[in-house]
Parts: sequence; structure tokens; C-alpha cells
Amino acid sequence: MRRLFPVTDETAVPAPGGASGGGAGREWSLEELAAAYAYPEPGPGGPAPWLRANMVSTLDGAAQHDGRSQPISSATDMRIFGTLRALADVVVVGAETVRREGYRPARAREDFAAMREAAGQGPAPAIAVVTAGLDLDFSLPLFTSPLVPTLILTGASAAPDRVAAAERAGARVVIAGDGIGVDPARAVRALADLGHTRLLTEGGPRLLGQIVAAGVLDELCLTVAPMLTAGEAQRIAGGPAVTVPHRFGLVSMLEEDGFLFTRYGRKRQAY
Ligand SMILES: NC(=O)c1ccc[n+]([C@@H]2O[C@H](COP(=O)([O-])OP(=O)(O)OC[C@H]3O[C@@H](n4cnc5c(N)ncnc54)[C@H](OP(=O)(O)O)[C@@H]3O)[C@@H](O)[C@H]2O)c1
Repeated sequence: MRRLFPVTDETAVPAPGGASGGGAGREWSLEELAAAYAYPEPGPGGPAPWLRANMVSTLDGAAQHDGRSQPISSATDMRIFGTLRALADVVVVGAETVRREGYRPARAREDFAAMREAAGQGPAPAIAVVTAGLDLDFSLPLFTSPLVPTLILTGASAAPDRVAAAERAGARVVIAGDGIGVDPARAVRALADLGHTRLLTEGGPRLLGQIVAAGVLDELCLTVAPMLTAGEAQRIAGGPAVTVPHRFGLVSMLEEDGFLFTRYGRKRQAY
């Protein structure tokens, strides 16, 4: 893998005529990846929530193929996916992604144990499932045997019997909306109140669209897969469009085997 941006003296000089250039680079260690994706240091006022999304898209904008993201991912993409999880306090994910991708609890990984301990984090991030209907199989390991209790983010008018079923299974139910659904800004505050400030969302597109619309996304880690799929697949963020496009700036870009691993931060000034 090599860093294309910011350019350093380690950025390989492309070979003349090579489509993806020369200098395929070396495999980065997990420590190097963790350093490349570190969350911002807490400011003088203490840790503030920072919400990053990690998504993968094909060249033509598909966020899944055959209903899953695995066919458009790569081994390096999964390494970065694992690193981003290892850096996070909590992974926020929409219930449909949990159902379709068969989510399991996050693992404690030996490679990241010392880093997490030094950062004051438990052995693995909690998974926080965003759901209105709580139509989830609470007998799955995600709910019955995580290292840290799985969170359910839902609205105040969620069905009491489903809330009770989630709690019986061992999940912690957090109310982050006045009605049936979750208000993304309130979810961020509720997670921060629980001590979770390094937030990672893994989508899916319907959830990410609402996070974008609510203006609470600080950073997007987007893998661009060198693939074309055509078809009707969702983009990485769906739902109603925002009035004015939210402008992001490129923070870094890594490349391996034609996959681009980009990191964009929200530009806070108006354009
Ligand atoms: N390319 C990528 O990086 C990537 C990442 C993730 C997923 N995906 C793909 O995306 C697909 C699934 O994504 P999706 O967009 O259909 O679904 P999603 O965003 O994962 O989940 C939608 C569900 O989340 C819950 N939800 C969303 N917003 C809510 C709110 N404000 N309040 C309460 N609940 C809310 C609802 O759950 P209930 O129905 O339980 O109420 C809703 O049905 C899969 O094919 C997956 O493979 C791709």
C-alpha cells in the first residue's frame, strides 16, 4: 500500500506508462494503519464526540452487490475496517445492515489490546444498533454474548414488549428520539453521555443519509473499489437530499491494487 495524499517522500513515483503507477508499496502494519486513522486528540474542553463513517463504493456508486458489501471490498479494505473498529468506542449501525450482513459482536484483538488500554477503552467497541421496530433476533450472539453489551438506539415510542425482549437478552436500550425513530444528533449526544466519543458508523445507506442530513458527520472514510456493477444498488447515503451540498475536504488517500482508501473531513466554514 502507498500513500497518495498527503504526498510524502514515501509516495512512490509512478512508473511511466503504468496505469496504476509503480511502487506498489509494502504492507502497512496495523500500528501504522491505526496511526493513519487516529481520532483527533481531545481539545482543552475534554473529549468531544467525533463521528466518522466507514463505507465502500464502486466506481459507479454502488454500496452493495447482491445485497452485501463483501463483493465490492478487498482484504486491505477489511484490514482498514478492522482498524477503524479497533480505534472506536462504539460502532453505530442500521438494523437492516445487522440483519443482512449477519452482524456479530466486535472481537477483542490482541494486536490492538495495548493501544485500546492506553486509550482508556475496553477490549472491543460496543455495537449500537439503530432501530425503530426492534425486529431483531435477540437470540443471536450479537445480543447474548458480546464482550461489552450491545446497545439498541431507538425512539421513545418503541414497542415496550420489544424493548423488554432486547433487555432480557442483555442489550442496553438507549432512547434517542421522541417518536418512533432515532434523531441522529440526539444519538450522538446520548452516546457521548455514556462516555462514547470516538464514534464509528458502518451505515447502511439509509442510516448514513439521515446522519448526513442531520449535519452530524465529521468524517467519511470511503473506500473506492475499482469495480463497475451497474444495476440498482443503493449509494452509500440515501433518503431526501440536503438543501445545500455538505462540503468535505480530503485528509488522506491510500492506494492498493487500484482501491483508494480516502479520508474526508467536514469543512466547517460555508462555501
Ligand atoms: N457499502 C457499504 O459500505 C455498506 C455499509 C453498510 C451496509 N451496506 C449495505 O446496505 C444495505 C443495508 O442498508 P440499508 O440502507 O438498507 O439499511 P440500514 O441503514 O442499515 O438500516 C435501515 C434500518 O435502520 C433502522 N433505522 C434507520 N434510521 C433510523 C432512525 N432514524 N430511527 C430508527 N431506526 C432507524 C430501521 O430499522 P428497523 O427496520 O429495525 O426499524 C431501518 O429499517 C445492505 O445491503 C448492506 O450490505 C453497505
